[in-house]
Amino acid sequence: MILEITQYGHPVLRKKCRPVTEVSDELKALADDMVETMRDANGVGLAAPQIDRDLQMAVVDVSHDPECITYLRVDGEEAQLEDHMPLVFINPSLEFGSEKEAATEGCLSIDGVNAEVRRPAEVKATLELLDGRKILVETDGLLSRAIQHETDHLNGILFVDRLSTAAKVSIRRKLKRLASH
Ligand code: NI
Repeated sequence: MILEITQYGHPVLRKKCRPVTEVSDELKALADDMVETMRDANGVGLAAPQIDRDLQMAVVDVSHDPECITYLRVDGEEAQLEDHMPLVFINPSLEFGSEKEAATEGCLSIDGVNAEVRRPAEVKATLELLDGRKILVETDGLLSRAIQHETDHLNGILFVDRLSTAAKVSIRRKLKRLASH
C-alpha cells in the first residue's frame, strides 16, 4: 500500500523518534508499505516519520546504481549490494569516518528543494533488522549518505539543517512557502 508522505512543516518530522522495542506483524507490513512508497516516489530512502510514524525505522534502496559505492562490508565480510537491498532497519547507531564529501541531496518530504550537503564519506552503521539480527554495515558513497540522511530523520534532523549558511539563505523562501501549506 502506498502511504502518504508527510511534508515539510509537519511536526512529526522534528521528533526524536521512539526506538522500536517489538517487531510485530504490523511493523513488518508497515516496512513493506514504506518500501513500496519509496519506490513509487522514486526515492532512495524513506524514514518512519515521513509516513507520520514516530518510530526508529527506515528503508533504503540504492540498487539502481551499483557503482554508487566503492565498497560494502557486512559484519566485516565483503558483501554484494543487491543482496542487501532494500535495506530495512530499526534503531540505527552510526560511526563516521573523518573524510567529508559534498553531494546534492533532496528529500521526499521537502518537495522541489535540492542542495549540496557535506557529510562524512564513510559510515559504520550498526543496524537492527526485522528478523532480529543486528548487523554492522560499512560503506561509502550514496549508501553511506542515504543511511546518514535517513538516520537524521529518526532524530528530527532534515538535510536542509546541514547546509552551508549561504545555501540556507538561498532556499529560505522556498522552505517558508512549503511550511505554510
Ligand atoms: Ni529525507
